[in-house]
Amino acid sequence: MAGNRWGTLFCVTTWGESHGPALGAVIDGCPAGIRLTPEEIQRELDRRRPSTSAASTSRAEKDRVEILSGVFEGQTTGTPIALLVRNTDARSEHYDELRNVFRPGHGDYTYWKKYGLRDWRGGGRASGRETVGRVAAGAVARKVVRAAGMEVIAYTRSIGGIGISPDALTRDQHWEKRVRESPLYCPDPQAASAMEERLAAVRKEGDTLGGVVEILVRGCPAGLGEPVFDKMDADLAKALMSIGTVKAVEVGEGCAVASKNGSEINDPMDAAGFVKNSAGGILAGITTGQDLVCRVYCKPIPSIALPQQTVDESGRERSIRVGGRHDICVIPRIVPVCEAMVLLVLADHWLRQKAGGR
Ligand SMILES: Cc1cc2nc3c(=O)[nH]c(=O)nc-3n(C[C@H](O)[C@H](O)[C@H](O)COP(=O)(O)O)c2cc1C
Repeated sequence: MAGNRWGTLFCVTTWGESHGPALGAVIDGCPAGIRLTPEEIQRELDRRRPSTSAASTSRAEKDRVEILSGVFEGQTTGTPIALLVRNTDARSEHYDELRNVFRPGHGDYTYWKKYGLRDWRGGGRASGRETVGRVAAGAVARKVVRAAGMEVIAYTRSIGGIGISPDALTRDQHWEKRVRESPLYCPDPQAASAMEERLAAVRKEGDTLGGVVEILVRGCPAGLGEPVFDKMDADLAKALMSIGTVKAVEVGEGCAVASKNGSEINDPMDAAGFVKNSAGGILAGITTGQDLVCRVYCKPIPSIALPQQTVDESGRERSIRVGGRHDICVIPRIVPVCEAMVLLVLADHWLRQKAGGR
C-alpha cells in the first residue's frame, strides 16, 4: 500500500494497524546533532491518549514509545529514526460480529473494494490509532521547528456546534495555559463546560459529535513554501486532510473570503509590515512572516451505538449497532495530531528552504 510517507527532506513513514502487535513511524532526513529524549516524544503521545473528557473512549492506551534507531547518547545521528509503540489494549473480539459487515462512515467498504480484503479489527490502517506514529514523528519535528524559532499550538474552536467566545484568545494573556489544562484543549472554560454537557448527553443517546480545531504557528519566517504544487497552504491542507474525520481545511479567513470584498480581505502594508492577517500568513503559497492560522472541520465519530442499516460482503442487508469502546468526538484527541501534521510540514519546508541556500 503506497501513500504512507510524508515529506521531501524530512520524510516520515507511519506503519502498523490498530490491532496488530505495534505501530509507529520511521523518520528519514532528520538532521544530526538534535538533542532528543524518549520523554519528549512521550509527552506528546500522552496528550493524544484518551482524556478524562466525556468525548474520549474508555480504552486504556498506554502508548509507551521506544526509540529503536537514529539516536545515540541523546542526540540524533542523521540516520533513520525508528519509533515503536506497542498495542496493549486491543480487544479484537469486539469486532467478531462485524467482520463481514461494512460499518457506515468507516473505510470498511472502500478498503474491501480497493484491496479485495481488509483487516476488520478496529479499522486497520484507517483507525485513529495510526495517528500515534504521526504524533511521535511530530515530536521530533517540533525540535527542528523550535530550533528555527517557530511554535505550533492547536486548540478546540467548537464541538457539536458549541463555539468558543470570540474574545477567548484575546481577553487576557492566559489562553494557552487554559488550553494546556483543559481536557478538551479548549481556551474558553465556559464553552468547555457546555461542550462536556452536550457530549455526555449525546453519549447517553448512543450518538457522536463533530467539531473544529484551529492551529496557530508563531515565529514562522517569511519565505517558506515552494511554487507551485508544494505551496505552503497546499501542503498544510493535504497534511491535515490526511487525518481521519477531517472533512475541510481553512487558511486565514477561509471560506468567509468568498462573501467579502477585496478591500476587506487584502492585508494592507505599512512601514512596520502587514497591518492585519486575513490571509493567515500565506500569500501565493509562501509564508509572509506573520502567524499562520488554519482550521480543520471534523465529522462526528462514525462508530455509533444506534441501529444503522448496511450490507455485508455478500450484499445481504443488515442492521447493526457498533459496540465497543469508541470516542464520542474526535476532539480533543485530534488536537495533538493536527499539531503534529503542521510540524511535519514546517520541518520539511524549513529544511527545503535551507537546502536552497536561503
Ligand atoms: C485520533 C482519532 C481517533 C479516532 N477514534 C475513533 C473511534 O474511537 N471510533 C471510530 O469509529 N472512529 C474513530 N476515528 C475516526 C475514524 O478513524 C475515521 O472516521 C474513519 O477511518 C473514516 O475515515 P474518514 O472519517 O476520513 O472518512 C478516530 C480518528 C482519529 C484521527
